[in-house]
Amino acid sequence: MTTVLVATVKPFAKVAVNGISEIVIKAGFELKMLEKYTDQNQLLEAVKDVDALIVRSDIVDENVIKAANKLKIIVRAGAGYDNIDLKASSEKGITVMNTPGQNSNAVAELTIGMLIFMNRNFFNGTAGVELRGKTMGIHAYGHVGRIIGMIAKGMGMDVFAFDPFQDKTIIENDGVKTVENVRDLYSKCQYISVNLPANSETKGSINYDLMSLMPEGATLVNPARKEIIDESSLLKMFAERNDFRYATDTAPDCEAQIKAEYAARYFATPKKMGAQTDEANINAGLAAARQIVNFIQKGDNTFRVN
Ligand code: 3PG
Repeated sequence: MTTVLVATVKPFAKVAVNGISEIVIKAGFELKMLEKYTDQNQLLEAVKDVDALIVRSDIVDENVIKAANKLKIIVRAGAGYDNIDLKASSEKGITVMNTPGQNSNAVAELTIGMLIFMNRNFFNGTAGVELRGKTMGIHAYGHVGRIIGMIAKGMGMDVFAFDPFQDKTIIENDGVKTVENVRDLYSKCQYISVNLPANSETKGSINYDLMSLMPEGATLVNPARKEIIDESSLLKMFAERNDFRYATDTAPDCEAQIKAEYAARYFATPKKMGAQTDEANINAGLAAARQIVNFIQKGDNTFRVN
């Protein structure tokens, strides 16, 4: 029998697990759950004899791939698959997929929420500033960036985007202005959301050269991965610009230093929570289960990333 393992350190909402279970069982497969595990050895043990694996940000490295004797498919229920060793998977003939767009609304809403939270001084009762009429920059216009643009426009912001991989017409048809290059985006926009995936080209790419271009009253919001931000640049910005604020869903390694010196201009969620809504869990979790059924039963490779 085909066995599907859901391995999540940060579990899906119960309603999503029920939905996944229904899809898997209806297909005639068996479902195994490994939730809130605290030791990677638990994953190594659980993955041994399963055919399919659903994960979130869980680390699927070479050791996990090695331990998996029957694994045919891994689906990352979400967008970023930087947690999965694609090379090791491909070498073992394992298909890897993500579920693009399924949790984007949750991430976009959190981004705007963090932007408001920062500019209303953590809701501490003091006078803040409004977003209406201000410039919003979207760095990478994928699923998340596009929804951020829609919300920001609805709030009366002047919205700009930069994405070399996206057709300009698509962006402009959304009523979002495009810029010629990434430096233009940072020069124009007081508020910027970075929505880049973490890969060898993007890691450390948000650096002092870019951040320092931001106008007075700058707030940088990072709903993506910590690795895309160059941390020495971040510290330099905090030190040089007392108007600079940073909010993130993935705390930097230098968090202790920032908190000690610049706590009033910094916020990080206690645990990555951009996609942690019932809706996002249902959308991404159920999509992952359906993709596995379609792959095993029909050989459907949609959303394969390796
Ligand atoms: C993603 O890449 O889809 C998001 O960062 C969400 O990650 P999560 O499933 O770990 O919450």
